[in-house]
Amino acid sequence: MLALPYRVRLHRVGRRPRLFPFILISGGRRIALGDDARVESFVTLSAGRGGRVTIGEHCELRRFAQLEADSGYIELGHRCSVNQFCVLNGFGGIKIGNDVRIAAHTVILSSTHNHDNSRQTIHSQGMSALETVIGDDVWIGTHSVILGGVRIGSHVIIATGAIVNQDVPDYAVVAGVPAKVIRMRLESEI
Ligand SMILES: CC(C)(COP(=O)(O)OP(=O)(O)OC[C@H]1O[C@@H](n2cnc3c(N)ncnc32)[C@H](O)[C@@H]1OP(=O)(O)O)[C@@H](O)C(=O)NCCC(=O)NCCS
Repeated sequence: MLALPYRVRLHRVGRRPRLFPFILISGGRRIALGDDARVESFVTLSAGRGGRVTIGEHCELRRFAQLEADSGYIELGHRCSVNQFCVLNGFGGIKIGNDVRIAAHTVILSSTHNHDNSRQTIHSQGMSALETVIGDDVWIGTHSVILGGVRIGSHVIIATGAIVNQDVPDYAVVAGVPAKVIRMRLESEI
């Protein structure tokens, strides 16, 4: 694999990296990969001035996943996967724990457009940062959207297609638009 050119461009590349050709990097000196990282082709890793992307150990970033920190941050714990076509926008900060599996086409936000003044364009009113936090051992189903400012607990399951706009307690299974708790996981499952 092509670790050497990436070692030059990134702040840190851990041991035993599996880095594929055509990883799209911007602000590489603000991006760190832990040991045993697998980063597939056409993944975007981007951190603007003041921003950072930090990936823990044994993480997999699958083709076309986009992790864009902007001036904020994206922090991924250990043993996480970010699957194909996911978009993580870290403007307000995204903190993700360990053992989190994020299925394809999921979008995780951490900001919103200000829109209080209906006489001005939405675009001209700027953005508000809203930090998003996800605990440990979370499974996020495909095509989910996590809105900015949400706190998702640990051992949570987000059903496919959910739009999560409120905090989710530990051990909850949530589904729907907007996402609601459909059940709590039983002790026998844990
Ligand atoms: C959430 C999930 C794990 C099922 O959990 P479960 O606790 O076994 O839920 P059930 O299948 O028993 O369904 C419970 C209720 O939730 C509803 N439900 C389940 N998944 C739902 C979804 N994605 N959206 C809306 N409602 C959903 C069911 O219709 C059912 O409703 P009812 O009680 O009115 O009949 C599964 O539906 C799911 O979304 N898996 C994610 C799959 C995926 O994205 N994989 C990616 C590759 S790893």
